[in-house]
Amino acid sequence: MSNFLTASIGRKFIMSLSGLFLMMFICVHLGINLLLIFDDSGDLFNQGAHFMATNPLIKIMEPVLGLGFIVHIVWSFILSYKNYQARPVSYSKTNQSDSSTWASRNMLVLGALVLVFLVTHVMNFFWKIKFTGDPLLDHVLVNGEEMENTYALVSVLFKSSVIYGIVYILGGILLGLHLGHGFWSSFQTLGFANKIWLKRLQIVGQVFAILVAIGFSVIPLYFLIKF
Ligand code: HEM
Repeated sequence: MSNFLTASIGRKFIMSLSGLFLMMFICVHLGINLLLIFDDSGDLFNQGAHFMATNPLIKIMEPVLGLGFIVHIVWSFILSYKNYQARPVSYSKTNQSDSSTWASRNMLVLGALVLVFLVTHVMNFFWKIKFTGDPLLDHVLVNGEEMENTYALVSVLFKSSVIYGIVYILGGILLGLHLGHGFWSSFQTLGFANKIWLKRLQIVGQVFAILVAIGFSVIPLYFLIKF
C-alpha cells in the first residue's frame, strides 16, 4: 500500500479522490448559494445556511471537508515537486501546447490562485459565522424559527464593495478553469482511460466547469447590477 501511495499513480490517486470529494461539496455549496438570487427577502438562503449549520450529518462532514481541502492542497505541492524532480529538463513550449491545454499545464498556479481566493472567502464569511461573529448576523425569524442572518452578511458585502464583487467573479472563473481539467483528469486517474469514455468525460467536465464558473460569478454580478 505504501509503495502504491509513493508511486506516481498512487500520488495522483489521492489528488483525484480528494478532488472529486471537493467537487461534490462545490455542487452543494453552489446550490445553496444560488438561493441568494432567487429570493431578495433572504429567507430562502437563510434557511439553506441554517440547515447546513445545524444538520448533524453536515456537522460531521465539516471536518472531513477541511481535511479534504488540506490533503488536496498539500498533495498538489508534493506532486508538483516530485514531477519537477523527475523531469529536470523541461519540455519545449511548442511540444507542451501541442498535446495539452493551458489549464492542464497550469493546474498548480490555478489551484494556488483558488487558494488565495479561498482564504479571503473564508475570512469574509466562515470565520465570522463560526468564530468572531458580526452585527449583521443578528438573528432573524424565518417561518417562526430563529436563525442567523447569513443573507445580510453576504449581501451587504456584495452590495457595498465592487472590489469584492470582482474578486468573487474571478474566484468563480478560476475555479471553473481548474475544474475544466480536474474533472476528467480525476476519472482518468481512477481508471476511465478508455478513449470513448475519456472524450465523454472531457465534454461533461467542460459543461460542469462552465456551470460552476457562471453559477458562482452570477451571484456577485446580480448584487452589483441590481443594488
Ligand atoms: C458567490 C460565491 C460564493 C458565496 C456567496 C459563498 C458563500 C459562503 C458562505 C456564506 C459560507 C459560510 C457558510 C457557513 O459557515 O455557514 C461559505 C463557506 C465556504 N465556502 Fe463559499 N461561497 C462562494 C464561493 C465559493 C467558492 C468558489 C468556493 C470553493 C472554491 C467556496 C468554498 C467555501 C468553503 C470551503 C467554505 C467553508 C466551509 C463551509 O462553511 O461550508 N465558496 N461560503
